[in-house]
Amino acid sequence: MFVSENLSVNEKGHLTAGGIDTVELAKKYGTPLYVMDEQLIRKACRSFKSSIDKFYGGNGLVCYASKAFCCKEMCRIMKEEGIGLDVVSIGELYTAVKSGFDCDKICFHGNNKTDEELEFAVENNIGHIIVDNISELEKLNAIAKSKGITAKIMFRIKPGIDAHTHNFVKTGQIDSKFGFALETGEAFEAVKKAIDSENIILRGLHCHIGSQIFDIEPFETASEVMLKFIAKIKNELGFEVKELNLGGGFGIKYLESHDPVPYETYMERVSETVHKCCKELEINLPFILIEPGRSIASPAGITLYTVGARKEIPDIRTYISIDGGMCDNPRYILYQSEYEAIVANKASEPRNEKVTIAGKCCESGDLIGENMPLQHAESGDIIAVCATGAYNYSMSSNYNRIPKPPVVFINNGESRIVIKKETLEDIIRNDI
Ligand code: LLP
Repeated sequence: MFVSENLSVNEKGHLTAGGIDTVELAKKYGTPLYVMDEQLIRKACRSFKSSIDKFYGGNGLVCYASKAFCCKEMCRIMKEEGIGLDVVSIGELYTAVKSGFDCDKICFHGNNKTDEELEFAVENNIGHIIVDNISELEKLNAIAKSKGITAKIMFRIKPGIDAHTHNFVKTGQIDSKFGFALETGEAFEAVKKAIDSENIILRGLHCHIGSQIFDIEPFETASEVMLKFIAKIKNELGFEVKELNLGGGFGIKYLESHDPVPYETYMERVSETVHKCCKELEINLPFILIEPGRSIASPAGITLYTVGARKEIPDIRTYISIDGGMCDNPRYILYQSEYEAIVANKASEPRNEKVTIAGKCCESGDLIGENMPLQHAESGDIIAVCATGAYNYSMSSNYNRIPKPPVVFINNGESRIVIKKETLEDIIRNDI
């Protein structure tokens, strides 16, 4: 009935998440409010993990892409689930370190890491620094040398795959700011250089073809391309690349019409491809890493808002204004992303109106969506926007100096704050 499996309707006709009345949550914590279901987060982690066990003999590691949603509690949960972490800035890395994360299980990304970031990564002995370009390799080697340490790296490779998704979230094609191209020979040169660098250990290769991808085929093709490159390195340089990181990008259900492939199926098909290619190419099976972000965080989240005004413009549209918007969810203004919305206090009623949900920022494009089916919404109603667990809080801003909403985790009928609501004092904290 709803896009996320933990959503239902109770006897009052209210929307529930993980069995908890969302209208009560809105009353207790105020709105806007991010709500994340811990059970669903853990379930997704386990399903990725067990698919590696089942189809790849456990010879791999799931690393949650924390850019989707990062905070200390999320890192703690990943640690408990035996999951690694993908971080992409010193801020995410610092959060992981402060939450007591095992640094060997961290993949540190970024196409332009600063000296401060590289030094922090080396000092903390991060397990996989994903090197994006030659100057970064040189810098990293020098930093590691100055500290008398060897840095463990992977190379980010562009496998030349065009995944069918939004242009802004495609990353595997040659025209991308991320990584080394195979076609031009720069990736091969980088590998040679890494093997010759005294303070570098080349653990493996990495690729990530994009995000919110529904087809499995591009993942299969990417693994084929990467394995061929691993074979070339073995044959021409006599060096064995032991690890292959295939990135994330698994699509999720934002709308009823979306039909994502079960996570198990990805691993089953990719594992088949890897087994087949390794046999043909006469190379050992690599240790496989995957980096799901959205698929772990998104379905677990909803955002609750209170309706302010209802504005009907005859023959044009009806605006429903809410107390949040692009500052807590910039995905519509960035990618025209579509969401399912429900009036939480009228959840058993039919969604037979088509409305535009508008945010409160001083910007006409500040919308959560247009033409969205919704129950008749009026001032004071609570609106739930579904599947907002990924790339919402993590991409939120203080535009218009609007304080960020809190994040509440729900688990076994209980709720708890994991990120506090920003205060007005927080807003001026760094002002001189
Ligand atoms: N690994 C790497 C190297 C990545 O760059 C990403 C996402 C992931 C893993 C995780 O991808 P996921 O499983 O979450 O699709 N802000 C955009 C998404 C940007 C994705 C960036 N990289 C959005 O809101 O749709």
